[in-house]
Amino acid sequence: MSECRGTILHRRSIRRFEERQIDEGVLQRILEAGLYAPSAAGRQGVLFAVSQDRAVNERLGKIKRAHSHPQMATATSYVSKEQPSIADDPHLQNAFYDAPTVITLFAPKNFLFSAEDCACAAENMMLTADSLGVGSCYVGQGFAAFADPYGQEILRRWNIRTDYYAVAQILLGYPRAGDAHPTPKPRKDGRILRF
Ligand SMILES: Cc1cc2nc3c(=O)[nH]c(=O)nc-3n(C[C@H](O)[C@H](O)[C@H](O)COP(=O)(O)O)c2cc1C
Repeated sequence: MSECRGTILHRRSIRRFEERQIDEGVLQRILEAGLYAPSAAGRQGVLFAVSQDRAVNERLGKIKRAHSHPQMATATSYVSKEQPSIADDPHLQNAFYDAPTVITLFAPKNFLFSAEDCACAAENMMLTADSLGVGSCYVGQGFAAFADPYGQEILRRWNIRTDYYAVAQILLGYPRAGDAHPTPKPRKDGRILRF
């Protein structure tokens, strides 16, 4: 199996992390992968705001949870039984799952391809993280983490331009020791259409 294919098949969303911070060299490699992602018209508009401040991450993760309204899990419909998401477990109050590193991807509000640019960068980063032994999780609707006065204060503290918005967060941390690596759900049939 090629190294690339192996990483793609191995990557899973990780929502249970060790407390220890990820190595700086590893973080730099993950950020490099984001910087080298494709971007619409080669504009490279995505900003990567790295927060390793646990208090800030916890508070933003709680704001994000408070402003998220996921459809809660049922016996037959759930996100993950092995690494429950906020949609699976109503007791989870931090939408960032206590990840030690949270990277918010910001992009211009008035650019048609901002979401796609961030998603491309995110996948590059998550695959690189997996290949380096770091767990990751994509958190959508990143703007919800800044949806109250504290979040707005953080945007000012980080000097985020007012014409940019938070598309998503990438959570990073070492997978918790003793946890089995999650297995993927079976792939749904009929999604490849050939003509
Ligand atoms: C656009 C998008 C938004 C997502 N938002 C969240 C989220 O807010 N919280 C979360 O725990 N996981 C989120 N995820 C992760 C998905 O739940 C996860 O990718 C999916 O359940 C498949 O699991 P896997 O990543 O292990 O293959 C998101 C993924 C994508 C692509």
